[in-house]
Amino acid sequence: MSRLLIVANRLPVTVSPTESGVEVERSSGGLATGLARPHEQSGGLWIGWSGAGEELTEAQQAELDRELAAQRLVAVPLTTDQVTRYYEGYSNGVLWPLFHYLLDQVPLQVSDWDAYVQANELFADVVAKQYRSGDMVWVHDYQLLLVPGLLRHRIPDARIGFFLHIPFPSEELFRTLPARKQLLEGMLGADLVGFHTPTYLRHFATALTDILGLTVDIDRVQLPGREVRLGVYPMGIDAGSFQALANDPAVEAEAAALRGDGSVRILVGVDRLDYTKGIPRRLLAYERMLEIHPELRGKVRLVQVAVPSRTGVEAYQEFRTLVDGLVGRINGAYGTPRWVPVHYIFRGLSPSDLVAIYRAADVMLVTPLRDGMNLVAKEFIASRPDGDGVLVLSEFAGASWELPEALQVNPYDTEGTAEVIFRALSMDPEERRARLAPLRQRVATFDVHSWVSSFLDQLDRVTGPGVRAASPTAGEAALRAELSQALERNDELLLLLDYDGTLVPFTATPELARPDAALIGLLRALAGRPDTEVHIVSGRSREALEQWVGGLSIWLHAEHGFWSRAPDQAEWTPAADIHGSWREPVLAILRDFTARTPGSLIEAKAVAIAWHYRLADLETGARRANELRIHLNQLLSNHPVEILAGNRVLEIRPYGVHKGGIIPPMSPEREARTTVLAIGDDRTDEDLFASLPPAAISARVGPGATRARFRLDGTSAVRGVLRMLADSGVGADLA
Ligand code: UDP
Ligand code: G6P
Repeated sequence: MSRLLIVANRLPVTVSPTESGVEVERSSGGLATGLARPHEQSGGLWIGWSGAGEELTEAQQAELDRELAAQRLVAVPLTTDQVTRYYEGYSNGVLWPLFHYLLDQVPLQVSDWDAYVQANELFADVVAKQYRSGDMVWVHDYQLLLVPGLLRHRIPDARIGFFLHIPFPSEELFRTLPARKQLLEGMLGADLVGFHTPTYLRHFATALTDILGLTVDIDRVQLPGREVRLGVYPMGIDAGSFQALANDPAVEAEAAALRGDGSVRILVGVDRLDYTKGIPRRLLAYERMLEIHPELRGKVRLVQVAVPSRTGVEAYQEFRTLVDGLVGRINGAYGTPRWVPVHYIFRGLSPSDLVAIYRAADVMLVTPLRDGMNLVAKEFIASRPDGDGVLVLSEFAGASWELPEALQVNPYDTEGTAEVIFRALSMDPEERRARLAPLRQRVATFDVHSWVSSFLDQLDRVTGPGVRAASPTAGEAALRAELSQALERNDELLLLLDYDGTLVPFTATPELARPDAALIGLLRALAGRPDTEVHIVSGRSREALEQWVGGLSIWLHAEHGFWSRAPDQAEWTPAADIHGSWREPVLAILRDFTARTPGSLIEAKAVAIAWHYRLADLETGARRANELRIHLNQLLSNHPVEILAGNRVLEIRPYGVHKGGIIPPMSPEREARTTVLAIGDDRTDEDLFASLPPAAISARVGPGATRARFRLDGTSAVRGVLRMLADSGVGADLA
């Protein structure tokens, strides 16, 4: 197992200064528990802020350092100013509310970006100093979005994973951040970026496309020379520990004491005191229920645990006042000398007290306005070995995706939430059990240990020694050497060549890519080479190919292999049925997009249609292409067509026709005596590479993930290699 460096804003400990020194206690939070095992077993380090301020004496500091070192924890020392500006200011004043869709909580003036950058640099410096070759680095959460990118500069070969514990917001919201580009680029420093839900991943992918102009291909995004994988890893809890604690006789006794004779039903809320958690609206829904169901007065009580959090941030201070006021109002209006409707606890509880409350609850209320995951919901489920209890869960918590059997609510709908709480209280025991059983099963199976191992296994897979060694595909010299050897062995040569970006450089408009005299001469020389077959496999129309290279004795394949023409023949043959009812409506949509996207243009071929945006402004072009792709995907879902994103071009074409289809069928004997060389530069050429016989030689032009065995820098390198081949043919026409 590689050594694991865990990098998170906080270390998994709580530090409290005492008279004689400091007390360092291990915290019991989800991340701390989940990562304890790999931290132990890999002999790795946990790098983060200890939470201690600058006020420690020298002796206390020395003791703290000793204690931390013993647990292989490395403290990133934050000054008071950094805590105020990086932690409270930018991380919790700006990113936290914005990523939770609560724009109104973002201060009008934001001035802490520089402190965020500096603190992220400080973290990256500490990690780089501790790093040893072969380590895996796992960076966590919104406080450290820049760290993966900063690390990539400091240690280019490091294996870096990043996990976001909070939602990734809709791109429309994310783009309001002035530093949006830097933040995305920071995250892309990782080899693997993980999210709790598919929706967060989708939002991130859209942001990459719209803001950075990158194309996301299902689960990966290609950067120059590097690939970043994206994945969904819903975090779990340590279900075993909660179950064990819930079965502890002392905890059971406490739960029984809380329930008393059962005449008062218990509703429970457990949250950090955070405006994302929906506490005020939950209180209002509860108040509304008491109003419309007077029979419940004196028969229910709400135990609300609110753990003090981020008390230095102004929004949190105001929020505390709001919650205090609401609790007071409800208790004042409905309380009696014998009954208090809301039992409010403003402090953190010990794990056993917490589990006793979970166990005592009739109904657990988890109603955040927005929450990345929400572990409390899962903890409640794991703490119910009795198989009873109802979970009311906000549809805006990441957990709701995995826990559909819970009673789902829209927390913004106070009236609706009041009804659902009433329904939860009225639910018969059979339904309660039927709903809880599958939830318990899922929470136990997908626990925090399975979360950790699925993320780390994938990080290992995508950065392991085999993958990394294979990805820097061999270069031009190696290709030339292999070709020379192959030509000595074989008599025949089969060339499969892409046109744009391979034989000629990209041009501003498709029409400008006509071949120069040198290229025509080269192709003629290759065509005249003994036992040589030359194929041009292009996305171009038949007319363009005919006009430009039609006079040469070579095979032509137009529209990505839809049309083919043998040398010196007049007829083009299609690979599939060319009549499609989709064509006209698609053209109409494309005309509309083209009219509103300066620099874009339509290339209508006989079968496929391409929408080029090479000349459009980078951001606008990418954004429109993304919109167009989503739009067409929906409209065309019942048609046998596919939409392919190429190099700043979208192509709509009949399904299943691709460049791989043009490879001439070869007998084993012919295959054995033929050198096959395929060269191309974009996604569509990957289809060609994928269909080649095993011994074929393939080369990708320029950067990008590829299955080709070799890489060439650009069109002149391609021409150089082809010239070598032409010259190697005995008696070749060297015109
Ligand atoms: N928690 C705690 N003591 C308490 C109340 C809550 O340690 O008194 C823990 C709780 O067990 C859970 C975490 O705080 O693991 C809250 O995690 P969650 O994902 O629900 O919300 P977050 O605070 O991360 O936004
Ligand atoms: C959320 C965040 C964590 C954070 C925790 C407690 O779970 O995703 O990154 O550590 O809240 O917040 P705090 O500011 O006290 O670390």
